[in-house]
Amino acid sequence: MPEQQPFVLDPAGADHHAEHHALRARGAATLVDILGVTAWSVSDPVLLKQLLMRADVSKDARAHWPAFADTVTTWPLALWVAVDNMFTAYGSDHRRLRRLVAPALSARRIAALAPVVENLVTGILDGLDALPADEVVDLREHVAHPLPIAVIGHMMGLDAVEANGLRTVVDRVFATTLSAEEAAANTADLYRLFDELIAAKRSSPGDDMTSLLIATRDEDGDGSLLTEAELRGTLVLMISAGYETTVNVIDQAITSLLADPVQLAHVRARRCGWNDVVEETLRHEPPIKHLPLRFARTDIPLPGGQTIRAGDAILASYAAANRHPDRHGGNADLFDATRTDKDHLAFGHGVHFCLGAPLARLEVATVLRRLFARFPDVRLAVPADELRPLPTLISNGHAELPVRLRPS
Ligand code: HEM
Repeated sequence: MPEQQPFVLDPAGADHHAEHHALRARGAATLVDILGVTAWSVSDPVLLKQLLMRADVSKDARAHWPAFADTVTTWPLALWVAVDNMFTAYGSDHRRLRRLVAPALSARRIAALAPVVENLVTGILDGLDALPADEVVDLREHVAHPLPIAVIGHMMGLDAVEANGLRTVVDRVFATTLSAEEAAANTADLYRLFDELIAAKRSSPGDDMTSLLIATRDEDGDGSLLTEAELRGTLVLMISAGYETTVNVIDQAITSLLADPVQLAHVRARRCGWNDVVEETLRHEPPIKHLPLRFARTDIPLPGGQTIRAGDAILASYAAANRHPDRHGGNADLFDATRTDKDHLAFGHGVHFCLGAPLARLEVATVLRRLFARFPDVRLAVPADELRPLPTLISNGHAELPVRLRPS
């Protein structure tokens, strides 16, 4: 069978659904070019789950990607494979780093945070209430962004200025239209800001996870628990994973409900609940479309006769997998909060399964419930198909979400 040329992914992800359709049509796994790097994009959910469970598939680029040294200086997405934290760790290192923060994000600990989330939502909605009735409001800017930033700021002990100061550099980590030089400059800014944060918290610790991680590092002289680079990398992960994704789920859930009032009617008539809206949004428009990267440690034969060779890179194409017709039938492309099977891979699968899933679910369900109760007549201010997608092949949201809160 002749090898296909790699399918070149659009860095701006301008028409991602058409692209994901094309990926699925090429087979369960197919070679793609992601900003100049060749990887196997896996869009079949069964195969993807199998690969994510294999011990011979690693996220440690330094150890298991022969192309790492040549790529890291020239690839705009280098940070995704080079940052030091559990996200890029393998085996016992991964378990060590994950154990440090997992207890703070357990379902029980997050349930206890519900009143904090409710209070933060109240403050945000009060702010919206104070705006002039006829004003067009960007809900991405005024609701989707502030809530996750405030929640992660609360957990990590950041004041509003610190949290908002990190926003631009974190947003740019998810942007995939930057040149390698621009991305490297952003990484340098990001690391400088996090080093400043660590220095400030070191001299004036609080009752928060940043201070706890710093204390862990400082009590651990030889770095067997946490090195200085891993401390910084873990804070980068917690703060960026903790908000960029959740912003986009809030944005996409509101969009889907406003674009199709029947869906909102389902919730109001209790044919489904807010949690169903959250899960269907995660399936239909997951906030991470493709997740870079994993690496095969051994040759892995694929069902169609191809082989992922040891050292090859693998791209988890979660958004394409979530709409696979073999899993969700002919109407996989439809948003339907009442569908009984909303199984999805938005949070990943296996040992790297998202630690923030309970927190993200709590935030999104709370803000949707409260927003539609406070502003029952909220409408999109432009047709849904005119909303501009974010220019990235990783994140999945809109540049803005203009609405009228109280249309006359
Ligand atoms: C709806 C919102 C979110 C989505 C869709 C999401 C999705 C993901 C995905 C796809 C991964 C990587 C899985 C892989 O390796 O393939 C991940 C990892 C992770 N997420 Fe989330 N995330 C969300 C919110 C959060 C929040 C709120 C936090 C923390 C406060 C968080 C913390 C993490 C951490 C620490 C990891 C790394 C886990 C590991 O490598 O072992 N996430 N997330």
